[in-house]
Amino acid sequence: MPHSLLITNIKGLAGVADAAPEKPLAGDALKELEVLENAWLLIENGRIARFGRMAEVPDRADEMLDARQGFVLPAWCDSHTHLVFAQSREQEWVDRIKGLSYEEIAQRGGGILNSARKLREMPEEELYEKALKRLDEVRSYGTGAIEIKSGYGLSVDSELKMLRVIRRLKESSRMPIRATFLGAHSVPMEYRQNRQGYIRLIIEEMLPKIAAEGLADYIDVFCEKVAFTVEEMEQVLEAGARYGLKPKVHVNQFNCMGGIEAAIRHGAVSVDHLEVVNDEDIAALQNSNTIATLLPTAPFFLNDHIPPARRIIEAGIPLALATDFNPGTSPSGRMPFVLSLACIQMRMLPEEAINAATVNGAFAMEWGSEYGTIAPGMAANLIVTKPMPSLSYLPYAFGSDLVERVVLE
Ligand code: NIG
Ligand code: FE
Repeated sequence: MPHSLLITNIKGLAGVADAAPEKPLAGDALKELEVLENAWLLIENGRIARFGRMAEVPDRADEMLDARQGFVLPAWCDSHTHLVFAQSREQEWVDRIKGLSYEEIAQRGGGILNSARKLREMPEEELYEKALKRLDEVRSYGTGAIEIKSGYGLSVDSELKMLRVIRRLKESSRMPIRATFLGAHSVPMEYRQNRQGYIRLIIEEMLPKIAAEGLADYIDVFCEKVAFTVEEMEQVLEAGARYGLKPKVHVNQFNCMGGIEAAIRHGAVSVDHLEVVNDEDIAALQNSNTIATLLPTAPFFLNDHIPPARRIIEAGIPLALATDFNPGTSPSGRMPFVLSLACIQMRMLPEEAINAATVNGAFAMEWGSEYGTIAPGMAANLIVTKPMPSLSYLPYAFGSDLVERVVLE
């Protein structure tokens, strides 16, 4: 049935454009956020139809929504999460407070392997229910499109179980979801003396089954000293490419290992974390179409290096922001707090943070012409805020709940 929704009395309609953007925002353009003041917005059949100033508001629609001087902006596009997991890991967090490092916990079989043990035991149904709750929770923070990874399975059955949960979420939720296969998240204990055995399991057993069921949109590898080498990552990415899966990878979380350049050679849509970067990494990104996705709540939670956002922006590299929602390094899916940290710790301007969390996040999921911008024809996934004095107030008032309503049409 045709349906129209008219939102009126919008103090500022942010992130508007005449047409869907063609590429992510980089350099000086990242701070250009167009805002139409005192505006209305008409949605028809789930799509942005038109917008304008209140002086010329249309007189009717099937449904009306008074924004009461709140702002309207594109819903957050959270392009990196591990939202399907069995249990929280606050005991490891307490161990870190007492002095252990994330790497030390991983070495002794905690961390990702701890999550994998818990997930293996949990029935698919229960895992799904828990994940669905988290999805509803992040929607209440304003998230309107999301990527979710596997990677706490680490066996054929458990990786498939995770990806099937993600598929059920896709089918049952209004939230648009991209699924990423992260079988190469950690080397299981039983393969620590036989790493190639695990790589073969990923390539020869997991990937063909995942591809046959169409369970993944992307492929990911955790390229790091505690996880996989650059060469191992390349093996997995090459295999993924044979099934048409493009990379979105974890690189440079703790060490510069050359993973960025290698991932770019394999056509990565995004390289994520980048808490540490060197000159070669920056040069490789400058000569690519790959998006740099920063996850500021992870180093905040680990009390680790602050990602060099200004250096990345000044190098003209498109930058996206995401939550990394996971039980080990970012037990929060709260995008507004990610924006606050980006401004406070990484010295991003509020406009830059908003663009990085909307339009560029959408591009990091290859959804830039669908979500993340308010332009005619694009999907109407929007945030209506509570009344607030300015857009900058949103990241400024960190921890406040300023999202009044999330529209996912
Ligand atoms: O993005 N770095 C690798 N993966 C996750 C953490 C996983 C975990 O500790 O459970 C991350 O930080
Ligand atoms: Fe992650």
